[in-house]
Amino acid sequence: MTGVEHISRSGKPAVVAHRGASAELPEHTLAAYELALDQGADGLECDVRLTSDHELVCIHDRTIDRTSNSAGVVSEMTLAELRELDFGSWHESGKKSSVLTLRELLTLTLDWRRPVRLFVETKHPVRYGSLVEQKLLGLLHEFGVGMPPSADHSRAVVISFSSAGVWRIRRHAPMLPTILLGDTARLLGGSAATAVGATGIGPSVETLRLYPDLVDRAAAAGRVTYCWTVDELVDVQLCADLGVRWVATNRPAKVRDWLVTV
Ligand code: G3P
Ligand code: CA
Repeated sequence: MTGVEHISRSGKPAVVAHRGASAELPEHTLAAYELALDQGADGLECDVRLTSDHELVCIHDRTIDRTSNSAGVVSEMTLAELRELDFGSWHESGKKSSVLTLRELLTLTLDWRRPVRLFVETKHPVRYGSLVEQKLLGLLHEFGVGMPPSADHSRAVVISFSSAGVWRIRRHAPMLPTILLGDTARLLGGSAATAVGATGIGPSVETLRLYPDLVDRAAAAGRVTYCWTVDELVDVQLCADLGVRWVATNRPAKVRDWLVTV
């Protein structure tokens, strides 16, 4: 199986901005993603959920209670209702922001002045049959990134804790890279990633500290490693030493600086 080419400059792990530059600005907002790109991130990570009118929006939680000035379940609200709300002022930066759709984030990513990858995490897709994958693949096709010539050249990567979700993407878009996320070595060191045909594995950094051999074991099976959430120097060093391909961080500027020194 093919690996996925580095977009980073040095052969060291590429830096993926987790929910944008989310240590500095409210997560999943246009401002947080623009800041991450300005800071030189190689990739952007976002979580996606379906609204009641079947739009994919970039929101992590099942509800909007933590990250907006209102309350409610994302899947029970329309996009128009979400657009009325403020998704920024809860954050210490106090920056007012609108809800961000996946369409808007794809536009930002693909129009950026240098190549950047978008890591789209499908949250609990099994709750919606295959609707999340259908909507996601439909959007990726519309933007011309749904059928990459190879995983190496893809501008989008689909990531999920759901093996069913990864498997459905592989079935409909075999060249689109996928990462099976997990926070147990049992899952990622075993046959789960092989069974669903994932391009890579995505352990948490806590899992990687306990089971550093996961990276070599994945590589032996032709898989790359994406590690989250890597916000401390000691963990950046660990990932660089182990040959992790991508590190997802809330602090992309800091991690880029550290990568020069490790
Ligand atoms: O990038 C993977 C990571 O985001 C998974 O955890 O809860 O932050 O979506 P979570
Ligand atoms: Ca995520």
